[in-house]
Amino acid sequence: MQDAQRYDPVARLLHWLTVLLIVLQFSIAWTMPEIHRGVEPTGLIGWHLSVGVAILAVVLVRIGWRVTHSEPAAPTSLSPVLQAISRITHFALYGLLVALPFLGWANASARGWAVMLFGTIPLPQLVAKGSALGQQMGDVHQTAALVLLASIALHVLGAMYHLLVVKDRTVQRML
Ligand code: HEM
Ligand code: HEM
Repeated sequence: MQDAQRYDPVARLLHWLTVLLIVLQFSIAWTMPEIHRGVEPTGLIGWHLSVGVAILAVVLVRIGWRVTHSEPAAPTSLSPVLQAISRITHFALYGLLVALPFLGWANASARGWAVMLFGTIPLPQLVAKGSALGQQMGDVHQTAALVLLASIALHVLGAMYHLLVVKDRTVQRML
């Protein structure tokens, strides 16, 4: 396949790195100890914060790359409704991948936890320790994670639709 018909190597690398980190992040989130008052951010909880901040960093680089580089032309023109669903899903994925880490970070700050970038660079506190808003952000964070999962499911369904029903080269453009 000609390179002009695929996403460039950086866009592909960032896409699959995000997928890898998201799989890792949900695996950690669902196995880490329950977070309640007095719990310290060690072990798997510490990993959840680190991987979450790494996702934020990768996604911000990806959005920067996306707005400065053109995407390959679509191999098939879908109906306007399907095109709109695809655009809204991509937009929702980017939005959630940015919002989720900030919501978790705000909750971590409310718990008085230090959040680090790649385990070394300390990041500022988003809200004061004990902040009621920061505590509520924890619930919003959990709900937003479920909305992200639903958006990913829709996205993968769309990819399968291209691969198995339309039988065009949309999926190959990201491989
Ligand atoms: C895209 C990235 C992220 C995803 C997909 C994600 C996902 C989740 C999920 C599914 C839970 C619920 C776990 C459970 O059921 O017990 C959770 C909880 C939590 N996450 Fe994240 N998370 C992300 C990023 C972050 C970041 C960057 C931080 C902090 C720096 C963070 C801090 C927390 C905290 C403090 C909780 C507990 C919330 C509460 O007690 O209400 N998360 N996360
Ligand atoms: C954690 C899971 C995933 C996330 C968060 C994610 C996120 C994204 C985002 C935000 C885009 C928009 C790219 C852009 O236009 O800038 C995209 C495109 C794409 N993704 Fe994913 N993706 C995930 C999993 C997958 C999987 C499993 C597949 C393949 C089965 C896949 C195949 C594609 C393809 C083919 C495109 C290009 C679509 C097009 O240009 O119309 N993605 N992905």
